Amino acid sequence: MNSMVDTALRAALPDAQAFREAMAQVASATHIVTTLGPAGRSGLTATAVSSVSVSPPTMLVCVEAASRTLAAIEESGIFCINTLAAADHELATVFSGRRGLTGEERFAAGEWGELSTGAPALASALASFDCRVAAVHRVTTHRILIGKVVAIGGGGSGPGLVYRHRRFGGF
Ligand SMILES: Cc1cc2nc3c(=O)[nH]c(=O)nc-3n(C[C@H](O)[C@H](O)[C@H](O)COP(=O)(O)O)c2cc1C
Repeated sequence: MNSMVDTALRAALPDAQAFREAMAQVASATHIVTTLGPAGRSGLTATAVSSVSVSPPTMLVCVEAASRTLAAIEESGIFCINTLAAADHELATVFSGRRGLTGEERFAAGEWGELSTGAPALASALASFDCRVAAVHRVTTHRILIGKVVAIGGGGSGPGLVYRHRRFGGF
């Protein structure tokens, strides 16, 4: 595309703040995505998670390129998506980095086991999707991880942890 047209089109795009405000309206389930890499356990809070297909069972997660957990997942080739119960809102805060904890430190709270791959599975999760990395796509600032689901767990119950308007709630 010619650069003048490209510049004009960019100028017409909604700005980042408008996009953030619109996305704040979207209610999302909250998950902790974990892995077990050479440096040990690692995980982050993520709402950019979706199922892709039922057969074969496939999920996707969008992770920022700077994420330490992303680097660990790319090395290990495994990740587990743990869908949180509302009662686990403090874990979501810990795994978002807002308590200043990283890597293994984030696992001090919660009861953690594993399913098939060895990636940490949260005992109180409503559902856990244990995945092998099937593909990684680079899109702007993020990577889309496509995971083949190899095991399913989750023994939790009650309302799920929903994020909307920069706050957690239960539904
Ligand atoms: C509610 C909420 C949802 C988030 N969703 C995502 C997400 O989908 N993808 C992402 O890369 N980061 C997301 N984050 C930010 C990460 O949790 C945060 O940057 C984390 O500290 C990354 O940890 P790491 O560098 O150890 O991997 C979210 C944060 C919050 C509070």
